[in-house]
Amino acid sequence: MSAAQKLFVVGGSGFLGQAICHSALARGWEVLSLSRHGAPKKVLARDASGNPSADRVKWIRGDALEPESFREHLAGCTAVVHTVGVLMEGDYKKMVNMGSASRSSSGSATYERANRDTALSMARVARTIQGLDTFVYISASDVLPLVSSRYISTKREAESELLEHKDRMRPIILRPGFMFSSARPVSLPIAAGLSIYNTLYHRTPAGCLLKHTPFAKAASPALRREVVASAITNAIDDPQISGVLGIADIERIGNTRVL
Ligand SMILES: NC(=O)c1ccc[n+]([C@@H]2O[C@H](COP(=O)([O-])OP(=O)(O)OC[C@H]3O[C@@H](n4cnc5c(N)ncnc54)[C@H](OP(=O)(O)O)[C@@H]3O)[C@@H](O)[C@H]2O)c1
Repeated sequence: MSAAQKLFVVGGSGFLGQAICHSALARGWEVLSLSRHGAPKKVLARDASGNPSADRVKWIRGDALEPESFREHLAGCTAVVHTVGVLMEGDYKKMVNMGSASRSSSGSATYERANRDTALSMARVARTIQGLDTFVYISASDVLPLVSSRYISTKREAESELLEHKDRMRPIILRPGFMFSSARPVSLPIAAGLSIYNTLYHRTPAGCLLKHTPFAKAASPALRREVVASAITNAIDDPQISGVLGIADIERIGNTRVL
């Protein structure tokens, strides 16, 4: 029987965040979410009876860059999952209607602020909270061609400092590739395209032609959002798991128990 957790999800209203809240609730854990707009407008995860999981989450409006907006809510929490991040600077999600907007009340969403500083701001406070012993960071694999190198370098900068907090908190760092779900329909054709591309790359001579192009790194499997969310709650539940988890690790840990 696993220990009950009180989970604090930074960005629980987002695409992956909602699935993490759902997976944690299915385990009977208490769940809090921090985001600038509070509860999500668009529900992307439902429980077994079809009800939005959102009803059972405590939604906190605040900003990960502003410790006074969340510090008191961390009391009693046992783990934090940080899911804030932008793939492109600016408000691209709003443009393509993919979920929450990525604008910030405390400045524009640069890679440095969104991918690195929000995580480090959370971790510096989290390490002072008694009983809070696990910090999960959603990083990314370097698989996307034509995306600014700062997307990955700011993720790696955050990872380095989070690993230094291991004297106080077990760091779990996930590096997924592209994530898809029927909850975000626009992600489905992209995942299907990636699957065809992977087959061509790994199983046909066409792969050789692409080996030395920026598209070579895209030959990695896309992950179902729900599998990534389960990998996170499974990893929190297993004290042996810590450090950096790549795509294959996420698939293996996520598929051992999908919730
Ligand atoms: N989607 C993918 O295919 C993919 C692939 C690899 C890695 N990743 C990484 O996975 C993570 C989750 O991605 P996602 O697609 O689920 O992102 P998302 O849908 O944009 O969700 C981001 C969440 O963070 C919240 N947020 C943003 N700025 C915040 C701040 N300053 N303080 C508190 N909350 C804040 C947002 O809510 P508010 O706007 O209300 O604040 C939202 O709930 C990201 O780190 C991303 O880089 C994603």
